Amino acid sequence: MSERKLIMIPGPTNVAPQVLRALSRSAVAHTDPEFIEIFKKALERLKKIFMTNGDVFVVAGSGTLALEMAVANVLEPNDKILNIVNGFFGEYFVKTSMAHGATPKVLEFPWGKPANPKMVKEALKEDNFKAVTITHVETSTGVANPIREIGEIVAEESDAFYIVDAVCSLGGMEVRVDEWNIDMCASGSQKCIGVPPGLALLAASKRAIEFIEKRKVPVNFWYGNLKNWLPTMRDTSIYFATPPVNMIYALAEALEIILNEGLENRFRRHHVLAEAFRAAMKALKLRLVADEECAADTVTAVYYPEGVEDAAFRSEMKNRGVIVASALGPLKGKSFRVGHMGNISQNDILSTIGAIETTLKSLRYNIKLGDGLAAAEEKILSLK
Ligand SMILES: Cc1ncc(COP(=O)(O)O)c(C=O)c1O
Repeated sequence: MSERKLIMIPGPTNVAPQVLRALSRSAVAHTDPEFIEIFKKALERLKKIFMTNGDVFVVAGSGTLALEMAVANVLEPNDKILNIVNGFFGEYFVKTSMAHGATPKVLEFPWGKPANPKMVKEALKEDNFKAVTITHVETSTGVANPIREIGEIVAEESDAFYIVDAVCSLGGMEVRVDEWNIDMCASGSQKCIGVPPGLALLAASKRAIEFIEKRKVPVNFWYGNLKNWLPTMRDTSIYFATPPVNMIYALAEALEIILNEGLENRFRRHHVLAEAFRAAMKALKLRLVADEECAADTVTAVYYPEGVEDAAFRSEMKNRGVIVASALGPLKGKSFRVGHMGNISQNDILSTIGAIETTLKSLRYNIKLGDGLAAAEEKILSLK
């Protein structure tokens, strides 16, 4: 029984059996022709997920490494960078920018609110920025930032490289790297993609690669230097550092699942289940952290009602076989987060809502059992 937990946190997410099987196969040499072919296939599939004809990179690490590689490869010492921040993960870009010698200008928006494109436009007029960073889905709040609109503004108003954190959206929400003027798009394996943690995923535009190939000051990060990885990503038989062979087999499987479902269908499923979850929370009179118009389809942060304590709530949920996440930063103790992304089904969402209802009831929060489930079901029917 204890192994059958429904993991509904914002990553890692539930892993499909064929992906798990890929992980448990015997290791093969990274020089084995079979692996070289699988690696190539994984990269081809990944390009479709990023919606790019540019270069993509798969490196052992996590989303944070992808963010750092994105920043480190375009920054040179004393460059100015505009970091748009409206939550915990937006700050990661500020920290990596400083670590790589840039002077960040932080454009902050309140937690729970989206970045405002007009204010980004104003900020771009004030200085000459080498790059602009933004988090697509801010996992700490469940806000989806308007990355498409901001991408247009960055391209119109500046020559800055546009760097997007799509760790909590790639494979679950629309991210069009080429169409939306994204120069660096960073992600990880353990969220919407449905592979355990361990891979940094990155897409780079032609313009970004041309800059990296020509830059005078070397990238201050040898393992993360895209110039070192580019030959391998273009010809998977070339060695730079040993690739995580089993993880790449797993990635190839997971990306096939995504492409077989179809990106549009997958985005729609995420949207319907997210809307259903939020409808349920509202029916239970629980307040959401993100404003409705910017709510992400992959994760929702929910405020606790008066008198419900974080540790007790999550432990009761766990006893019911459903794992949800605590909050980050200033929201810690005040809210919980539910990840509804990757390969989750309608049943998974309904089970989670059911567990939330009975947990709240057991913690003496006054609700009518079934109100959340009924609202979710109604929403699903109305959106189908
Ligand atoms: C939006 C966002 N960016 C970056 C990260 C960091 O990724 P990782 O934990 O894979 O290093 C996370 C992790 O949850 C995230 O949600």
